[in-house]
Amino acid sequence: MSENSNTPTSENGLATDLIHEGILRSQFGETSEGLYLTSGYVYDSAEQAEARFKGEDEGFIYSRFANPTVAMFESRMCALEGAEMARATASGMAAVTATMLCQLSAGDHVVAAKALFGSCRYVIEDLLPRFGIGMTLVDGKDLAQWETAMRPNTKILFLESPTNPTLEVVDIAGVAKIANAGDALLVVDNVFATPLHQRPLALGAHIVVYSATKHIDGQGRCLGGVVLGSEEFIMGHLHTFLRQTGPSISPFNAWVMLKGLETLPLRVARHVETASQIADYLHNEAKISRVLYPGHKSHPQHDLAMKQMGSGGPMVAFEVAGGKAAAFKFSNALRIIRISNNLGDAKSLITHPSTTTHQRLSEDARLELDITDALLRISVGLEDAADLIRDIDAGLAAI
Ligand SMILES: Cc1ncc(COP(=O)(O)O)c(C=O)c1O
Repeated sequence: MSENSNTPTSENGLATDLIHEGILRSQFGETSEGLYLTSGYVYDSAEQAEARFKGEDEGFIYSRFANPTVAMFESRMCALEGAEMARATASGMAAVTATMLCQLSAGDHVVAAKALFGSCRYVIEDLLPRFGIGMTLVDGKDLAQWETAMRPNTKILFLESPTNPTLEVVDIAGVAKIANAGDALLVVDNVFATPLHQRPLALGAHIVVYSATKHIDGQGRCLGGVVLGSEEFIMGHLHTFLRQTGPSISPFNAWVMLKGLETLPLRVARHVETASQIADYLHNEAKISRVLYPGHKSHPQHDLAMKQMGSGGPMVAFEVAGGKAAAFKFSNALRIIRISNNLGDAKSLITHPSTTTHQRLSEDARLELDITDALLRISVGLEDAADLIRDIDAGLAAI
C-alpha cells in the first residue's frame, strides 16, 4: 500500500482489522458474523427495560436505533476510516441528507462544490433552501471561491473528490483549513476515492459520508450508507436524528457490507490497477478526444491526486470524438462492460452522465461542470483487464 493509504487504527494491519474488527460473537461461537434479523429485543424484567430506556443498562432497544449486525459494520468502518464513531444508513443519500438535516437550522448557510452527484446537488440546491437554509455553490478546485463564499452563519462545507463524473480533484486539506477558520464543519463524500485511497479525516475533514452501495458492498447487491465523525457530532446530532426519523439500514444489508469489507483491499487494488491500464490504453486511441484519470500525468491535478489519494482511483472518464451519437454507439457495442448508472461493482459499468445521472441539471449547468454529451464514465470492475480492453476496442470500432 502507498504512503497515502489507510493506516491501521489498532496494532494490526488494516487487512486484519477489516476481517476481525468489531465482531460481536454470540454464545454459538459462529465464525462468520451473525445476521440479526430482528426489529426488537426482549428484556429480562420491567426494571431492565426501564433502565435501558434511561441509558443505565447497555443493550439494544429497537433496530431503528441500533442492531448488533449494524453495530459490527459501524465498528469495522471506524477501524477503516480512523473515526471515533459511525452510523450506518439505508443508502448513501440517506447518509448525506441526515448529515445535513441533523445539524442545520433555518438561517444557517452551506457552501458546496458545484461538481456533485446529481442527488447530492438536489439536497443542497433544492431541498435545504426550502427550509430556510442558504447555500452557495463554488468551483471546488478554486480555494479562493470557497474562502469568498464563507459567511458568519456558514455551518457546513460539502464536497466530493474525485468528483462524479469528471474526476476533478478537490484539495481537501485546503478546504478543511477554510472550514476551521470559519468555525464550520467540512463534510466529504468519499465514494469515488474509496476509503482505501483517501482518508478525509486525516486530511482535516470533520465528517465523511459513503454510499456503501458502491465499493464497500462491491458486488452491486444492496443499498447502504455510512456517516463517520467525532463522538460529539454523532451523539450530539446524528444519532438522535436517525433514531427519531428512521432512515436505518436493514441488518441484512449491513451484513452484506460487513462481509464486503473483508475483501475490500483486494478488490480495490484490482479495480485501481485495471483502471490505470484502461486510462493508458485510451490515451493512445485517436477516437478518444480526452481522458480524465487522476492517476495519469495528463490530468490537470495529477500531483494533488497522488498526494491526496496515492493513486488514480477505480473510475475512468473520457470523451469520444463525435458527441452523443458516438458515445451511444460506443456504449451499445460493448459486450462485457454493461450500461448502468451504478458504480463500484465487480462488473464493469459504463454511464453516459449527461443523459442519466446528471440529466436533471440544465444544459448550461452541465457544461459549466464539463459534462458534455461526449463524456462517458467507466466504473472499472474485476474482470480480466485484457478482456475489458478488447471490449473497449469493439466500442471504438463501432464509432
Ligand atoms: C458520489 C456519490 N454520492 C452519493 C451517492 C448516493 O448513494 P446511494 O445510491 O447509495 O444513495 C452516489 C450514488 O450513486 C454517488 O455516486
